[in-house]
Amino acid sequence: MTSSLTFKSLAAPLVGLAVICFASSALAAPLSASPQAAEEWVAPKRKARLKNPLEATAANLAAGKALFLANCMVCHGTEGKGDGPAGAALTPKAANFAASSVQKQSDGAIFWKLSEGRSPMPGFKAALNETQRWQLVLHLRGFGGPAKTKLDLALMEYDQLKGAIILGDQKQVMAKSSHLLKSLQGISVPKSVAANKKLKADWDKRTEGIQKGVTSFTQKKQSATGTLRQLDLLSDGLSQWIAEYHLAPTIDLRLLRCSMALDGEGGSWLQLGKGMQNPYLPKMSGKCVKTLGAWGPSVPKP
Ligand code: HEC
Repeated sequence: MTSSLTFKSLAAPLVGLAVICFASSALAAPLSASPQAAEEWVAPKRKARLKNPLEATAANLAAGKALFLANCMVCHGTEGKGDGPAGAALTPKAANFAASSVQKQSDGAIFWKLSEGRSPMPGFKAALNETQRWQLVLHLRGFGGPAKTKLDLALMEYDQLKGAIILGDQKQVMAKSSHLLKSLQGISVPKSVAANKKLKADWDKRTEGIQKGVTSFTQKKQSATGTLRQLDLLSDGLSQWIAEYHLAPTIDLRLLRCSMALDGEGGSWLQLGKGMQNPYLPKMSGKCVKTLGAWGPSVPKP
């Protein structure tokens, strides 16, 4: 199922929970701000001091991501850049969470802002409970990481394609697979591979195979069962390709395989369901528990 652990949320860098001294930034603001500048939105000091009571566990991050997609994405965009379908036309614009002006704020300040809102942004303290709002703060921290690579983008699009497939939305399947194909084509050959003729030939062959797999989604209308099986193949091929050419750090890769196995193999077998046994899930979920158990503060950063 799509709600299981996804690569993105797990790989999100956990930014330290630094508390920023708000007094200094308030004093630094010029007293005579130019009239066209939007009035700065500052959380009350007492609220800004609140600490996030939650840990950035895989479960909290996954919950935060789901809440974000359901409540915030429409304005703030999937990547939190403020470019959601309903966000760009707003005045002021929906905030870009990757910006340092947001990331430098304390957890308490962000929590307060998303709870209270400020027109045109609604407040969420009635719609979401405290735990959910703190989970959102954890998710917002993930947007502060380094810029996304083409591979990151491709994986995000794979995630979206998978969602469309599981929902059985054929139009979206075709649209998302075109995006995925484009991003995959933008991933350049690693230097070490390009330097070796034989490796380069292997790379071309495998890359072509994956691109063919994605292309078939952009074209054919197939049975739901056929599409899900094809997704299994794609997720397998994609994760092997990433592993083979060291396109992602080891820990990311372990999480990715785990996520793909649960979402692809596990997810589609669950969907096919109807009395069918899923031969992968028991095996994979055991492995994933192990992988996730190993994932913690002691794992070196990629
Ligand atoms: C209707 C569109 C809309 C939705 C939905 C929305 N926002 Fe916003 N958000 C905005 C706009 C517009 C701003 C800028 C408001 C301002 O500066 O006055 C903003 C600003 C923010 C800020 C403050 C950023 C800063 O610069 O300090 C946070 C935090 C935030 N949003 C979080 C969220 C979260 C979390 C959700 C979902 C639970 C959400 N927003 C849903 C439109 C939206």
